[in-house]
Amino acid sequence: MEKDIFELRSSVRKFTNEDVAEADIREMLEAAVKAPSGKNIQNWHFVVVTNKRHINAAADIITEKNKKLRDNVDDEALKKEFKRYLKFGTHFRKAPVLVLFFVSDYPVTGKKIMEAAGSSEEEINALLKADPGIQNISAAAENFMLKAAELGYGTCWMTSQNYASLELQSYFGVDQDKYTLALITPLGAAAEKVDSPPRKSLDKVVSWVW
Ligand SMILES: Cc1cc2nc3c(=O)[nH]c(=O)nc-3n(C[C@H](O)[C@H](O)[C@H](O)COP(=O)(O)O)c2cc1C
Repeated sequence: MEKDIFELRSSVRKFTNEDVAEADIREMLEAAVKAPSGKNIQNWHFVVVTNKRHINAAADIITEKNKKLRDNVDDEALKKEFKRYLKFGTHFRKAPVLVLFFVSDYPVTGKKIMEAAGSSEEEINALLKADPGIQNISAAAENFMLKAAELGYGTCWMTSQNYASLELQSYFGVDQDKYTLALITPLGAAAEKVDSPPRKSLDKVVSWVW
């Protein structure tokens, strides 16, 4: 049976050297900006890196920050665990393209009035935890990755490197007063076939209210 678009996308962590056509990247970006966003605010910014030297530098920045953090901690178990995650934040090193997804602030509806009305911290936290600003960039990122899959490319949604987000942001010259790094993805032709891991069945994640 032919795979549908959702099955075509899976997390790809190894890439061939093949270049990605600029026209294809533009198509993915066009798909990304077709995503819905609260109040149609479109609070996103994308950085597309196609230069190997800069992709490598990004991986170095994360590696250095990972070490710096470990060097400032005594707890050996914590250090070991954190080091283990380094590969999940740097496997893009050999990808032909790296895309960084930034998000700017979103004025969450209800926040101001809840604060003025003296709502509890718990109530305000419940509102803010669902962060529509992050939902906007997530929708854009998913569109980007689905279009990449449709065009035959691999991607991998990555957030585990975000402990180095300020350093990455500074390296790529993105205004820190306005934007926050949400996620990154490598982009390229997959070096190997990757199937997604199994999902929980619907009966475990759905409650129907009739
Ligand atoms: C919010 C988010 C953060 C993720 N962060 C990472 C990451 O930092 N590194 C990585 O290799 N994969 C990361 N992934 C990929 C997940 O591991 C992957 O989506 C999941 O295992 C399901 O596999 P699939 O994408 O192949 O369907 C992330 C995915 C999401 C949605």
